[in-house]
Amino acid sequence: MIEVSELTKSFGDKQVLKNISFSVNQGEIVAVMGSSGGGKTTLLRCIAGLIQPTSGSVRVDSIEVRADPEAARRKMGMVFQSAALFDYLNVEQNILFGVGRHLKLNSKDERALLKDSLARVGLEGNENLLPSELSGGMRKRVGMARAIALSPAIMLYDEPTTGLDPITTYQIDELISQLRKELGVTSLLVSHDLMSVRRVSDRVAFLHKGELVFLGTPDQFLESDHPAIQELVTKTQAAQLH
Ligand SMILES: Nc1ncnc2c1ncn2[C@@H]1O[C@H](COP(=O)(O)OP(=O)(O)OP(=O)(O)O)[C@@H](O)[C@H]1O
Ligand SMILES: [Mg+2]
Repeated sequence: MIEVSELTKSFGDKQVLKNISFSVNQGEIVAVMGSSGGGKTTLLRCIAGLIQPTSGSVRVDSIEVRADPEAARRKMGMVFQSAALFDYLNVEQNILFGVGRHLKLNSKDERALLKDSLARVGLEGNENLLPSELSGGMRKRVGMARAIALSPAIMLYDEPTTGLDPITTYQIDELISQLRKELGVTSLLVSHDLMSVRRVSDRVAFLHKGELVFLGTPDQFLESDHPAIQELVTKTQAAQLH
């Protein structure tokens, strides 16, 4: 479970997140939507304990992130907006980077985990490639394999499908749903893709100018009378007709 309470974050005198409170229940998938620059990545980084909120608190499975960031981080896997792979490590080394540090497996179990993680993201046989030899979509999927290799109870996804083709997008959506169904993973998913969000998420949170202006089901989201949400919904519908 993720509990965000009265979270505020400023960079200098710019307030990026304003008094955000919401929870993601155990096994729930909540999508975070909002315009570019609205504070979505900043929210994820605060939850992951990568940056300190200016005020307010975040708890993950009852651990206060600010009080014990190490323990909190062990609960969470994060898929970064830019994949964030190590350029000089191949796919295998990137995936096993955290595994070696946290799980202390023998080499046979490590190989099995590597194979399983790659298979989950549809990248079997690509162990030896370097990030520079991968497509953008492959890099994102390696970032995802690296996060799920540690079997986290909570996954934070920052735009895992942006810029990917519809089939890969569908596969990643399926994987997010599957992790919840098979392992009960709690997920927070930043996305611009209303179709994906309707397919995978239980609830949608909408950030507008740093404020949480909507929290509800995808169906309620489509019906919302907030102007920024209406604009997103109508533009998406118009794009689908063309
Ligand atoms: N480390 C930082 N220092 C200063 N300002 C920052 C920092 N990180 C983010 N910001 C500012 O915070 C605001 C929100 O950025 P953020 O990356 O959270 O937006 P976003 O909603 O994820 O946007 P996008 O959809 O484009 O990814 C932006 O104005 C950005 O310039
Ligand atoms: Mg972002």
